[in-house]
Amino acid sequence: MGNPVQSSAPPAESLTVRDNRTGKIYTIPITNNTVPATAFKAMAAPRKPGEREENETDKGLRVADKGFLNTAVIQSTITYIDGEAGVLRYRGYPIEQLALHSSHLETAYLLLYGQLPTRDQFRLFEKEVMHHSAVHADAETFFRSFRYDAHPMAMLTSAFAYLGSYYSEANPSLQGQTLYTRSTKAALENMDKQIYRIIGKATTLAAMAYRVRQGRDFVIPPPGLSYTSQFLYLMDHMGQEDYKPSPVLAKALDVLFLLHADHELNASCTTVLQTGSSLVDPYSAVAAGCASLYGPLHGGANEAVIRMLISIGKPENVPAFLDAVKRREKVLSGFGHRVYKTSDPRSFIIRRTADEVFKVAGKDELLETAMALHDAAIKDDFFVSRRLAPNVDFWSGLIYRAMGFPLDFFPVLFAVPRVVGWLAHWRQMMMQQGGVKIWRPRQVYVGAGKRDYVPVEQREAVRGLKVEPAAIPHSGISKRTELADYKGKSKL
Ligand SMILES: CC(C)(COP(=O)(O)OP(=O)(O)OC[C@H]1O[C@@H](n2cnc3c(N)ncnc32)[C@H](O)[C@@H]1OP(=O)(O)O)[C@@H](O)C(=O)NCCC(=O)NCCS
Repeated sequence: MGNPVQSSAPPAESLTVRDNRTGKIYTIPITNNTVPATAFKAMAAPRKPGEREENETDKGLRVADKGFLNTAVIQSTITYIDGEAGVLRYRGYPIEQLALHSSHLETAYLLLYGQLPTRDQFRLFEKEVMHHSAVHADAETFFRSFRYDAHPMAMLTSAFAYLGSYYSEANPSLQGQTLYTRSTKAALENMDKQIYRIIGKATTLAAMAYRVRQGRDFVIPPPGLSYTSQFLYLMDHMGQEDYKPSPVLAKALDVLFLLHADHELNASCTTVLQTGSSLVDPYSAVAAGCASLYGPLHGGANEAVIRMLISIGKPENVPAFLDAVKRREKVLSGFGHRVYKTSDPRSFIIRRTADEVFKVAGKDELLETAMALHDAAIKDDFFVSRRLAPNVDFWSGLIYRAMGFPLDFFPVLFAVPRVVGWLAHWRQMMMQQGGVKIWRPRQVYVGAGKRDYVPVEQREAVRGLKVEPAAIPHSGISKRTELADYKGKSKL
């Protein structure tokens, strides 16, 4: 923490800060190239005459970081990204090696428990996850309660929260708030059980969301298939005898799952941790992560890429589209990343996986437009100067399309494997030294100062779209109802 005034030379691994408001000098320790934000809270100054009390100047300096551009909220041993060099490692292992040699479930073990499993360890883990793939028969009623055209992410997000309602033994609100933080053998076993359940059932819930949309009956998870093969079976099996999903598609999906399993503190993972920091059950935290992933700046980008390619139509239209991007009328979906300032390392692996899928499923008709767009954008100064390179979503949507998945199912194909990363980070946070602190960021309050309540007859209307609720047309009321008499003469 910051200490005012120095007599001897400050330690090399520290930051010396002079507060020019007070003349005080503070020494702030640097650990792992990080300074604690709370050290700045010690830097208080007297409030200037006339200064707003809401600035809280006398209560210490605040650190502003809109959008978490440079704020570390946790110590982690899970995933390392060097966005400048295009490096991604899970627990130290380069993503390229894992994509080549590992599988999604083996990588899940690695992310969750820190080590690659031995054969026996993996066998047990796989058995537990697959054992937990079946859901209660009542889940059928839950899924059937959605409208025929419900977005599958709306179903999946709700389904995780719904799932939690079955397991009172997993709920800290019922079992005591230290259920996951006490790190005893029983607590760890209980935590693992929920992890097996959530990973095991994620594919089943996703497949149920898929089948509702297709008007199909549900399928009980069959034994003896790999994680992604079973997922394909759960979506596609229609009663055919000895039905086995294509091993090429199952393998491609497995590679895509592995690549999407974790990406350190992205928006959805941060949401899971933020939600989990209140010590809520992991089902609720995962549902919150799902909601975050659904947004077009995150897990919705692969869907946005396809919609963009459809709107471009053919390679000849690429230059006009890029001009519109430069005029800020459009966004080049699938390009740019908060962390990567060069090509996303996963995008190279995905290109190779795409070729394998196209060999059996046929080339997607949008591929040529995608190639033309990619090739033009990576040479264009607008994108080069802003270091906007293709990200994982640029190609993944084309593979999902070639596999025949509907557009709005793409975020589901991202969320299912990402459950692994969310749980790895959640587990790590629950087990961290010193317990879990609730995540409660600060704000810079710039609103009205203290004012007294005004009785309604003395108020003057303040007008404007941003300061009063909008009057909107009610789409549910038909013209006929509007014109009808109600209770004598009055209209609705
Ligand atoms: C991912 C993303 C949200 C990162 O945002 P960010 O880190 O806040 O980056 P910024 O918005 O600060 O972008 C820096 C500059 O590049 C521009 N830019 C970033 N991504 C762009 C894109 N895809 N198309 C056009 N311009 C883009 C911004 O307008 C900004 O330009 P400016 O400096 O002239 O104002 C952003 O690149 C984006 O919206 N990409 C498209 C969606 C997508 O593919 N998301 C999936 C991510 S895996």
